Amino acid sequence: MQHDDRLIVALDFPTLEQAKSCVLELGDAVSYYKVGMELYYAVGSEIIRFLKSQNKQVFLDLKLQDIPNTVAHALTVLSGLGADMMNVHAVGGRKMMSEAVKAVHAAAEAAGKPAPKLIAVTILTSMDNEQFANLNYQNTIAEQVIALAKLAKEAGMDGVVASPQEASAIREACGKDFLIVTPGVRPAGASLDDQSRVATPAGAFKNGSSHIVVGRPITKAENRQAAAEAIVEEIKGV
Ligand code: C5P
Repeated sequence: MQHDDRLIVALDFPTLEQAKSCVLELGDAVSYYKVGMELYYAVGSEIIRFLKSQNKQVFLDLKLQDIPNTVAHALTVLSGLGADMMNVHAVGGRKMMSEAVKAVHAAAEAAGKPAPKLIAVTILTSMDNEQFANLNYQNTIAEQVIALAKLAKEAGMDGVVASPQEASAIREACGKDFLIVTPGVRPAGASLDDQSRVATPAGAFKNGSSHIVVGRPITKAENRQAAAEAIVEEIKGV
């Protein structure tokens, strides 16, 4: 079975053992994994080393946000781990993002390696209209997502994390080479879990996503490999 580098599986586990057994079970069906706060804070860089030893690509999803200097230095350190993609919050601002881009490029150049992709979180998909109103922005959520995506692009970021519903407007605003990495993906008929604004895997790519992040529909499946293969099959040619 051929894998598809546009499918990123979210390794949302609290232990190294669970994460490793999932990766080994999925085998060649999956080539790209997302390591988020839960797993990274539990086991640290060992999971990155393990994934690299298995020739997998890694999206290190730590969503950094702090003053530009702190984020830049944190990314310089994280660059040494060899992740292929990392992210920061766009609301950290233009300077924070441009310093972040400079830091990962300088670290990659010093190591003689290609720079990892750096993407920005716009507005979390868990944010609903009521919570958003409490923040007192002038824009609607949709307007704010586009404004932050454009700001990320201007700051030199490679792309954004966004819901599949926002992908087409971002694609239009930010052009064809901008990465749009979308969680909230559910195969037709699958449980929504706690996701609300979802799209199917093929639907996400039709909307303009460049990558999809899928967690529970694969990691909690009775047959994980079959679940991953079904998604790879669904997105073939889309
Ligand atoms: O299990 P599920 O497919 O819902 O997992 C989606 C992954 O994407 C989780 O790791 C979740 O934290 C992450 N994510 C998300 N929505 C965002 C940002 C990240 O679901 N806006």
